[in-house]
Amino acid sequence: MNLILSRISFLCVCVFLVLQSASICDQNDQNVLLQVKNHFHNASCFSTWIPETDCCSWSGIKCDENDANPGRVTVFKIGANAVNNLTGQIPPILGDLPLLRKLIINFQDNLTGTIPLSLSKLTKLEILHLCCNNLNGTIPDFWSEFKSLNLIGLHLNYFSGSIPSSLSLLPNITRLGLFSNSLSGSIPESFGSFKSKTIHSLTLFNNKLSGTIPRSLGEVNFTDIDLSNNQLTGDASFLFGKDKPIQRISLRQNKFKFDFTKVDLPLGLRSIDIANNEIYGSLPKGLDQLSLDSIDVSYNNLCGHVPASRLQFQLYYFTYNKRLCDVTLPPCKEIIDA
Ligand SMILES: *[C@@H]1O[C@H](CO)[C@@H](O)[C@H](O)[C@H]1NC(C)=O
Ligand SMILES: *[C@@H]1O[C@H](CO)[C@@H](O)[C@H](O)[C@H]1NC(C)=O
Ligand SMILES: *[C@@H]1O[C@H](CO)[C@@H](O)[C@H](O)[C@H]1NC(C)=O
Ligand SMILES: *[C@@H]1O[C@H](CO)[C@@H](O)[C@H](O)[C@H]1NC(C)=O
Ligand SMILES: *[C@@H]1O[C@H](CO)[C@@H](O)[C@H](O)[C@H]1NC(C)=O
Ligand SMILES: *[C@@H]1O[C@H](CO)[C@@H](O)[C@H](O)[C@H]1NC(C)=O
Repeated sequence: MNLILSRISFLCVCVFLVLQSASICDQNDQNVLLQVKNHFHNASCFSTWIPETDCCSWSGIKCDENDANPGRVTVFKIGANAVNNLTGQIPPILGDLPLLRKLIINFQDNLTGTIPLSLSKLTKLEILHLCCNNLNGTIPDFWSEFKSLNLIGLHLNYFSGSIPSSLSLLPNITRLGLFSNSLSGSIPESFGSFKSKTIHSLTLFNNKLSGTIPRSLGEVNFTDIDLSNNQLTGDASFLFGKDKPIQRISLRQNKFKFDFTKVDLPLGLRSIDIANNEIYGSLPKGLDQLSLDSIDVSYNNLCGHVPASRLQFQLYYFTYNKRLCDVTLPPCKEIIDA
């Protein structure tokens, strides 16, 4: 009996020790989090955020696992695919979690207001994901000190004004998603000289961007670029090029105007959409050598013939060009390059 009791108490001591060593939440960080919870009126997604417990174990929170900064909050994540109905603005106090690496508050139905300037203090951020909210105002221009940021997702909000040029100063950015907002003005000239050699995805579709695009954009090694549904004009042919890593390009629904004939299609291209522009000339030569998943060149001023091998794609995607298929769906023979 005594033996059992002493074993139980030994066990208890062990459990206590384990709990002790895991319970390392930084007091300042915990206070900040509790203010965030209060800011959102103790919404149900904060039900595990109980003051007496270790904040490193709260849902959506992770702490530094290194010895360097034990117990400091590094991840703040609410949302993902759950809709929590958070109502209100992004609490400025979040700027007081200085070691935060991931700030993710996405897919909230009712998160409004602007990005608080206090977030400029979060220079350790690697991921900033605030998509799919009702945020508005301008995108702040405070990016020059963010050395580690590699993903920005601000898409599907109501941001307006122009795209801040300091975004191109981010030395480690790989994906920049600003699509489906109300951004206007032109694509900053600086975007042609991204400091990051690793940016591969630029998605600016569904905005109100206008003007010509910087020529130097053709020197950035994108794999995915989507500028569709804007009011962009002029030449975009320099985005193409035989040796470019581009796999997906969409210029759809703009006012681009250039000769498609001489475009050197990237060999790894999988998807191309230039529909609804004022692009002229004929389909470029290399088209039948590509392993495309999709192509749409409809509603342009193209002329000439569609290579037979491309007719795997519905004829529709080639129609409504001046001579290409301006006739109401001609018999295939007439448009097949023998
Ligand atoms: C949230 O809960 C705390 C503790 O239960 C309480 O003191 C505070 O007033 C609550 N805040 C709101 C906005 O309801
Ligand atoms: C979100 O709000 C709706 C309507 O206000 C409600 O029916 C739903 O239960 C709420 N969801 C959560 C997770 O609180
Ligand atoms: C959304 O927020 C507004 C104001 O911030 C509030 O009046 C409204 O009730 C909220 N809607 C839901 C569904 O929580
Ligand atoms: C942002 O939205 C709020 C309502 O949620 C509105 O009062 C405010 O004027 C908007 N600001 C801008 C710059 O559109
Ligand atoms: C840049 O991002 C990569 C991962 O994409 C990471 O391994 C690297 O440490 C980052 N560099 C800096 C300076 O944060
Ligand atoms: C793009 O890739 C090419 C070929 O891999 C390389 O020579 C060039 O330096 C890269 N450009 C940038 C801006 O990283």
